[in-house]
Amino acid sequence: RGAAPTILVIFGASGDLTARKLIPALFNLGLDSLLPSDFHLIGFGRKPIEDEAFRKIARESIEEFSRRPMDEELWGDIEPGIHYHSGGYDEAEVYRSLEKKIKGIESSAGREMQLVFYISTPPTVFEPIIENLGASGLSTHLVDGKPGAKVIIEKPFGRDLESARRLNQVIGRNFDESQVYRIDHYLGKETVQNLLVARFANAIFEPIWNREFVDCVQITVAESVGVGSRGGYYDESGALRDMIQNHTMQLLSLIAMEPPVSLDPESIRDEKVKVLKGIQPLALDPADKADVVRARYTEGLMSGKQVPGYLQEKNIPGDSSTETYAAMRLMINNWRWKGVPFYLRSGKRLARRVSEIAIQFKRPPGILFSESKKYDVAHNTLVIQVQPDEGMTLLTNSKVPGLETRTQPVKMHFRYAATFGSNTPEAYERLILDAMIGDSTLFIRGDETEASWKLMTPVLESWKSLGQHGLGAYAAGSWGPAEAERLLGMHGHEWRQTG
Ligand code: BG6
Repeated sequence: RGAAPTILVIFGASGDLTARKLIPALFNLGLDSLLPSDFHLIGFGRKPIEDEAFRKIARESIEEFSRRPMDEELWGDIEPGIHYHSGGYDEAEVYRSLEKKIKGIESSAGREMQLVFYISTPPTVFEPIIENLGASGLSTHLVDGKPGAKVIIEKPFGRDLESARRLNQVIGRNFDESQVYRIDHYLGKETVQNLLVARFANAIFEPIWNREFVDCVQITVAESVGVGSRGGYYDESGALRDMIQNHTMQLLSLIAMEPPVSLDPESIRDEKVKVLKGIQPLALDPADKADVVRARYTEGLMSGKQVPGYLQEKNIPGDSSTETYAAMRLMINNWRWKGVPFYLRSGKRLARRVSEIAIQFKRPPGILFSESKKYDVAHNTLVIQVQPDEGMTLLTNSKVPGLETRTQPVKMHFRYAATFGSNTPEAYERLILDAMIGDSTLFIRGDETEASWKLMTPVLESWKSLGQHGLGAYAAGSWGPAEAERLLGMHGHEWRQTG
């Protein structure tokens, strides 16, 4: 899996993501001998920083955030290839000098090199960066006469359908879709990549993966952290934009999609888009069985410590109506799923950090072991634990040993840590490597992001017009608002206890 000689330019180089994830990911690729033989990193940022100082920052970020310790020999190899370029993201001149720097690296390497532009800035400057990459000619950089530039775009990809469309148009004017890698880091997680393998490398699941057998699907992406120091960003975003529209919908499309005809990126992404397009518009009237619930956390106890409510967090305006929790019921109008609800929920300051997908199967006909005091019969449920304690659990019913026939639900477990050990690559390692190699399977296509926004934008508009009306509350440390329980209760279901 070797990538061609590469110059990676990170826009937003002095940001949090670069230090916490991107640089450690590059270092770990190096440890696995997966960095291109000739590799240069150019950090691009507004702040003027000398190359030397940026190298020091890079080293510190590896020391602090890498999953494996510093390796002096590797660092010695990488360090001279680290550079910094400062200037405004919208200044044409800065891109001309960037090009000069790139040409200089190429000429001392004695070869043309592929360019990977990683845009990890606040979204307000996505468009000027992309336009400038186009105007400067960097987006049409050639290697051996072939297209040799790629662009990786971090989230958030737009804030509604219109802005996502506009961003796609700006990208489309400057890059060919085959050069574009829209990131959703959930797709880089091992357990998420395993969804396709679990579904399609096994013969036993697919025959029951449909409305005949499945009662409902529940996707939970719960976080125990609050908004912390990200209040300014978060209040403009909220749980729906921050987690549901992207990460949770990605999980849903991988779970619900039809088998692709092959593993090539377009076949897989075609099927994901089809699922998104098949989802019915959501019922939004709070007075009439709405399919959506939103709430924000109030103060509460977490691991024995009192934590503040959302409105007391830093940089949150007193009249905020931003949700820190969202839950919804989605119905997919296709042959496989007609009538099967997909319940999604995600929130901050929930009781525990856990992301899981639960496929709850229908109960057996209650003829022999119908639910009673003697027979505790649970829904068979396949639980895919995305994180932490990654794995899969199948819930079945068993006879309790003894002279009398009683039943009890039991669990069959597969755990990554026990089977494969725990040193799994981080999402960003896989994603950066794939982008350098040119494999776009784990990235979002333009039409995919629009299909997801198309579904979510009416929800956002409805919430905006309702303001605080209908915004529920839940205590920090709980499992969310009572409205979310009612959402499932209305349809004869209940949230399963995670884990
Ligand atoms: C990010 C969100 O995309 O995902 C954050 O902006 C969230 O608010 C994070 O905390 C969760 O990612 P992970 O990998 O920790 O589940």
